[in-house]
Amino acid sequence: MQPDLQVIDDPAEAAAEVLAGASGHVVLTGGSTPRRAYERAAELKPDWSGVNVWFSDERCVPPDHEHSNFGMVSAALLDRVEGAAVHRMQGELGPHDGAAAYERELEDAGPDAFDLMLLGLGPDAHTASLFPGDAALAERERRVLGVETAGMAPLVSRITLTLPVVNASHQIVFLITGTDKAEAVSRAFSGRPDPRAPGSLVDGKVKVLLDAAAAARL
Ligand code: 6PG
Repeated sequence: MQPDLQVIDDPAEAAAEVLAGASGHVVLTGGSTPRRAYERAAELKPDWSGVNVWFSDERCVPPDHEHSNFGMVSAALLDRVEGAAVHRMQGELGPHDGAAAYERELEDAGPDAFDLMLLGLGPDAHTASLFPGDAALAERERRVLGVETAGMAPLVSRITLTLPVVNASHQIVFLITGTDKAEAVSRAFSGRPDPRAPGSLVDGKVKVLLDAAAAARL
């Protein structure tokens, strides 16, 4: 299905509004771009009762480490709201044990398909911790995988949801800003599906919220 590309002045605000309207099982992502969207979502929706928060991927560091996606999402959102049931990836277990633990968590408490998944896009067109050319892109059985070698900084191993889980989501929203993403945006959303641009392999009900800088090469 063709992604719904929305070039807007303030995509973080739009993402915050989507998050504030979400219920059920919601997947959040890491990186630096969504921080402001999370802060705004906390302002817009202080009560997250009834929302299960999951993660797209995690760096294999402890939760209080500066590179922890959980740490960033906690500071920007989860510590500022009430009621959310939070399911974090345990980066401190390492990529393989951490992935196995998250698969068990999904089995025990997860949905068949996520209601909403927020994703970002790297300048190399990776998404979650699905990096260009990595074997994880071909995974069809496992729902969560360990990735030993990250394709981009921080160069620590990762835990990531796999494409079948991503693509089964009822709604997928990318939040992408900045000139350094313009080429990746073009490769992910205006070319053919290509494992060298993992964002292009995300398929389903996809909305892409981006600013004019990130949309410059479309
Ligand atoms: C991570 C992310 C990753 C991120 C992109 C974009 O752990 O790094 O989950 O997929 O969304 O790398 O990151 P930025 O927003 O920092 O550019």
